[in-house]
Amino acid sequence: MIKNMRLNLSEMTGLRPVFFPLFVATFLTIIPATAVSAVTLGVDSLDEVIQALSLQEKVKLIRGTGMDLGDGGPNVGQTKDKVPGAAGTTFAIPRLGIPSIVLADGPAGLRIAPHREGDKDKSYFATAFPIANSLSSSWNTELVKQIGQAVGDEAKEYGVDILLAPALNIHRFALGGRNFEYYSEDPLLSGKMAAAMVNGVQSKGVGTSIKHFVANNHEWNRNSINVKVDERALREIYLRGFEIAIKESHPWTVMSSYNKINGEYTSESSRLLTQVLRNQWGFNGVVMTDWFGGKDATLQMQAGNDLLMPGMDHQEGMIIGAIKSGALDEKILDRNVRNILQLVLASPTFSQYEYSNAPNLNKHAQLAKTAAAEGMVLLKNKGEVLPFKSSMSLALYGNHSFDVLIGGTGSGDVNEAYVVSLEEGLQHAGVKSQTGLASAYKAHIERENAKRPVSTNPLAAFMPKPALIEFKLDPERLKASAKHYNAAVVTLGRSSGEFIDRPEADFYLTEQETQMLGLVSEAFHQQGKPVIVILNVGGVIETASWQDKVDAILLAHQPGQEAGNAIVDILMGKTNPSGKLTDTWPVDLKDYPAAKAFPGTVLDPNIKPSGFTQTVPAEVTYDDGIWVGYRYFNTQNKEVAFSFGFGLSYSDFGYSDITLDNTVFTDKVIAKVRVKNTGKLAGKEVVQLYVSAPQSELVKPESELRAFAKTQLLQPGESELIQFELNARDLTSFSKQQGVWLAEAGEYVIRIGKSSREILQNAQFTLKETIKVKP
Ligand code: BGC
Repeated sequence: MIKNMRLNLSEMTGLRPVFFPLFVATFLTIIPATAVSAVTLGVDSLDEVIQALSLQEKVKLIRGTGMDLGDGGPNVGQTKDKVPGAAGTTFAIPRLGIPSIVLADGPAGLRIAPHREGDKDKSYFATAFPIANSLSSSWNTELVKQIGQAVGDEAKEYGVDILLAPALNIHRFALGGRNFEYYSEDPLLSGKMAAAMVNGVQSKGVGTSIKHFVANNHEWNRNSINVKVDERALREIYLRGFEIAIKESHPWTVMSSYNKINGEYTSESSRLLTQVLRNQWGFNGVVMTDWFGGKDATLQMQAGNDLLMPGMDHQEGMIIGAIKSGALDEKILDRNVRNILQLVLASPTFSQYEYSNAPNLNKHAQLAKTAAAEGMVLLKNKGEVLPFKSSMSLALYGNHSFDVLIGGTGSGDVNEAYVVSLEEGLQHAGVKSQTGLASAYKAHIERENAKRPVSTNPLAAFMPKPALIEFKLDPERLKASAKHYNAAVVTLGRSSGEFIDRPEADFYLTEQETQMLGLVSEAFHQQGKPVIVILNVGGVIETASWQDKVDAILLAHQPGQEAGNAIVDILMGKTNPSGKLTDTWPVDLKDYPAAKAFPGTVLDPNIKPSGFTQTVPAEVTYDDGIWVGYRYFNTQNKEVAFSFGFGLSYSDFGYSDITLDNTVFTDKVIAKVRVKNTGKLAGKEVVQLYVSAPQSELVKPESELRAFAKTQLLQPGESELIQFELNARDLTSFSKQQGVWLAEAGEYVIRIGKSSREILQNAQFTLKETIKVKP
């Protein structure tokens, strides 16, 4: 086993195996017993403690304690010392009163092991909240903050100090394997969501790690890929969300990403970690690597990547060697150690918080359900077939009607206590659904699962499973069901996760799915009964070719453990849908400008893919520049399946009375608009403000999201005055020539509406002179 471990690790990290005997011993490493010091860690004794640390001790502090490799590979979430299943811990130096702190994933909830050896009577489940993409579809920052508070509470009550979340890489292309963990194709929405999450978690006294900094938009060759991206796109699209989150929520830590940017690993980039993050944005926390990320520990130290996770023994030798040879100034090490000690000082562990191991999971489940329902997006509702009446009986089709996907795979997965299926959700709500077919579906799912080949890839347990072939429907039986039941509900599912991008075919319906949709639609429509499709997906799929065949489409996302209850709340109208898309849904995959170069090219075809992540040197050029998502589709006026910001309600909303406080911009502009519920049911509306800037020195998208708000629950006839404030920075684009943000003189149009393509109110103002804002 140890032999395999050495080989695999070497392949995975690209490091020579000679380091790994030491690595394996990591868990047994004992800090050399040194005399107990008179000084112990405290806010006032930081300088003295740093002085009292030996070089060896300092080097211990800047790396994690390693990762338990289990039987077949680096098991994410298997650090078995303090909180089993957490992703990592730091070293303790007891003689100086420095405890070890615990870091655990992730974006949809706390990821720790649910059971512990020798502790049979207790479980350690966490709440599986909806995936990030679902949370952001609520466009409700207050709700996301509440989720953050709940996750923060679970982290704290289970003895975790730092939550390795939120993740906010941009959805550049539909096939990005981890898009489900990220919020949007738009940096403002991503940044605001991340800030809300961080503010929520950290209000509990637990830290966060916003990740993966930056431009980690692929899983393909993620440990080696060089992202070639131009400075304007980097600033406006990929860094902007991080900048917002840093400035509006002060996360305790940032996780650098695996990839290189323009030839440099992000974790080795002084420009990104020191110049941009700390000097320009004022970040003063800890930067940690992603697990096993980057190569050169000395460069990482110099760049300002304080903490190396999960920590490998060879890194110590590298750093000590560099200090001894003069290649690394010990002051740099001291600087990084100081950052880490400050983090330790702020941690619940340092203040000896007595965690209960008993967070209020029932309360959090309710919140998970509310959030899941609020994140769902009603994409189609022809003839207002939804909401269903409570007396209606439903026929369910599609594997995922019986096997709901609640989240993605990998480190973003959560060990929850239970999952509410769609069937159970219907039962809880007293809605009748067909039972005969249910057992046939379950038997089919079991049979097909059993047929799956056993993967030799040690990461298989963390990777998404290929979709199961759909259960073959008998047309005669289908006709009988169509007579008997009031409507058909067809669920289409897609799983994705860490380590692998979605294959192209994943974007499209399979032949069997198309066939199933055709048969169900024909049978039910013949009886004059509606067909509703539930999209149980983590990202964008193709809908243009089949959306006309069905009456309603509900994007349920991967909604967390309360999935069935939340879906049924929407279907039955207990919750009025108020989610809106956080991505453009194109007609076809090839419509994305990124399609041409995704995922990238291999640099040397003679190097064989190896290791867990099948990594080879590769690169990708982001020649789509700033033309990501609606910035491209709307500017080109390209036909889309659904536009960015789109989503229906069971009610309707009217917009009126737009006003600006000034038609000449000085340092800010305040826009107000009245939003009224003109429908028959109480509901909430997401109000989106886009700005069209003058085309001058810099080419501008047709418009860009610059602010958004969500109304309260408005009763029919009720209205709310929504107010937005924009400052100079909100009008800018980045000039790479001048190295500044530019708001160029000219006419600006504020466009407020229901989606990026349904603008209902416009107002104009003038900027007399170009404003330059320093980065
Ligand atoms: C992931 C991170 C995660 C870390 C620790 C890495 O594989 O990329 O997002 O936080 O593992 O589990």
